[in-house]
Amino acid sequence: MAQQEISCGYEYIITADLQTCLTEALQCSYSFIVSPIIHPRFRRQSTNAGKNGGFTRSDMVLSPQDWTSRIVAKLSPYINVDSPSATVRQRHEDYLNEELSYCRGLGVPAIMISIHGRESNNLARILQTYYETSHHPSLIWACVPMLCSRTYRECTEDDEEEKAWNEPWYWWSKFHERLDWDKRVGVVLELSADLPSQEVVKRWLGEPVKAIIVPTSIFHNNKKGYPVLSRAHQQLVVSMVEHEAQVIVSGARRSNIEFFVQYLHRVWRRRPNPANDPMLSYARGWEDYLQTPLQPLADNLDTHTYNVFEKDPVKYNQYQKAIAQALIDVQKDRAVKQIAEYLESVSINGSNPLCQFQSKASCNVASINQCSKNELCDNNTKELIRDDPITVMVLGAGRGPLVRATFNASDITNTKVKVIAVEKNPCAVVVLAAQVREVWRNRDVVVIPGDMRQINLSPKADIIVSELLGSWGDNELSPECLDGASNLLKPGGISIPSSYRSYVAPITSPRLWAAAKIATSGIPQQKDKNLETLWVVYMQNKHDIAETKLVFTFNHPSKAVKDEEGCDKSDYRGLPLTNNRRQATLTWDVQQDNIMHGFGGYFDCTLYGNEMISIVPGTHSPGMISWFPVFIPIKTPMRVQKGDKITATFWRCVDSRRVWYEWVVEVGNRSTPLHNANGRSSEMLL
Ligand SMILES: C[S@@+](CC[C@H](N)C(=O)[O-])C[C@H]1O[C@@H](n2cnc3c(N)ncnc32)[C@H](O)[C@@H]1O
Repeated sequence: MAQQEISCGYEYIITADLQTCLTEALQCSYSFIVSPIIHPRFRRQSTNAGKNGGFTRSDMVLSPQDWTSRIVAKLSPYINVDSPSATVRQRHEDYLNEELSYCRGLGVPAIMISIHGRESNNLARILQTYYETSHHPSLIWACVPMLCSRTYRECTEDDEEEKAWNEPWYWWSKFHERLDWDKRVGVVLELSADLPSQEVVKRWLGEPVKAIIVPTSIFHNNKKGYPVLSRAHQQLVVSMVEHEAQVIVSGARRSNIEFFVQYLHRVWRRRPNPANDPMLSYARGWEDYLQTPLQPLADNLDTHTYNVFEKDPVKYNQYQKAIAQALIDVQKDRAVKQIAEYLESVSINGSNPLCQFQSKASCNVASINQCSKNELCDNNTKELIRDDPITVMVLGAGRGPLVRATFNASDITNTKVKVIAVEKNPCAVVVLAAQVREVWRNRDVVVIPGDMRQINLSPKADIIVSELLGSWGDNELSPECLDGASNLLKPGGISIPSSYRSYVAPITSPRLWAAAKIATSGIPQQKDKNLETLWVVYMQNKHDIAETKLVFTFNHPSKAVKDEEGCDKSDYRGLPLTNNRRQATLTWDVQQDNIMHGFGGYFDCTLYGNEMISIVPGTHSPGMISWFPVFIPIKTPMRVQKGDKITATFWRCVDSRRVWYEWVVEVGNRSTPLHNANGRSSEMLL
């Protein structure tokens, strides 16, 4: 959950009296402390040191509540269970197990361990065992420096510096990979005085950074003598905290420890205010929380879901503008046709009473088209134009917000409308019927219960309005519903929306991937299914490996497929036979070493004319909250390197009963298996 307040801890290098240290930190407004679990200078003489009585303090020094909520237990940093020396390795394994088992007894919320290099197989193995054998294991916080000083010293060229910033990410990502991106394992980053490029920072923001260590040495004193951070460090702290990291102050006491925490709170409070974006407040609490996509065609939505839709401040406004524009265009089109018919008839009769109009528009249809609505409806022509209502069908009307938008648009444009609201959900139909009785009494509106693909209505619509879009555009089967209802639209009629497109970007997100994997309640077969499914999620802890690209496009009214002679094919009902199967292959150049866990999926939609709605990053309709993006996982995360090419192919498959996606990813000569073959794990029912 995005932080309302910053959570700060203080790291004690030595805690001679743990209770005194904790009391001091709490009095200074820290929320927790990091404490070595055994005295840093304690050296075990042999592996059975513990048995000889007390390798550390008694747990009685703190209350159980303090142990379980205020203490991050730091394991001895010298422990190196991946040492090349077998003797050291084994001895350190014993130390590690001893310290882990003591932590298990204490029930501390998190255990901090240090990672020293790329080799961490044995550490990962021991921690895996710790998780397997603990009922209530603590979180593991793996601590790495932001900059590897050893690699930095070895750099000879300027451009090699990048290696020193990449190196600790490798330590962490290899360690986390060996733990299968377990979500109970996070990283703690120790900030350095220098900071890396934005790209390196962004990659860290895609990792589950549980905390950042801010050494007191990187603060400098302001004119009044208080510790402050450089602007770049402040920004880094804010971005990390926005991604749910906590902050740990560590190092020599160069100032009263209270000043550091006060300053960090101030930095957080003074951050550029993101509160103006309704999406941020709306999504609070939903960050990285996976939801299965709705299937409004196969299932009936509940009241709560309609309630949520209807709160969108932007979507209906955009629809209203699109409907208004369509009403104007239909009316103008009608006027043009009626005047043209009239002119044709009078020229046959040889007389023409439209002198004023003639002089303006030279009496031909092309120039009538140039006239504004007012000109067409001036006193001389008004009586020629019949003011029949424009038939607007709202297909999938829900509880009526698009009906309301249509009436608003009709009032604004001063056009008469006849609204036909079609809805297949019986509960929503009840609400629509009540609205007709109570709210739209004086309006020309009827409600037709039923599936839009199966009803036949007369008159046909001049305009159909629908909102059947999912987070990945077509994934709630808008194409199939609208094509199935194409007989409801007059030839040349307008569909709102007129088109929509899906997009993807390859992403790294251990958190989303791990969440998808375990959304299984431990059933092994389900794990595979969950990694072959689209998840609706407000993605926060992720990093885009490359840019967002177009996948599939759908247009409405859609064109029929052609037969061998080039004629439109029709289905058994005589409707145009359309083809909503798709295949798209996309490629991306990798700019930075990374691990790909799947894709972020988005859509945009042209309602009518210039009116759009979008959830694509970069063009997102400001303030529109109706849709979170989708996360499309891959079964086995893939390591990618700068210079690699990622190639992904997506299929949209359709049969008589259902629609499903399949996808495959290739990097060089490596490839994932085909995901969701024959829709075995996820499908949308028709
Ligand atoms: C995403 S909701 C939108 C509802 C409403 N237009 C709104 O904006 O709040 C889609 C609606 O379309 C209805 N629907 C979906 N497929 C349908 C179909 N084939 N025929 C009739 N209604 C359908 C669903 O029951 C649901 O009420």
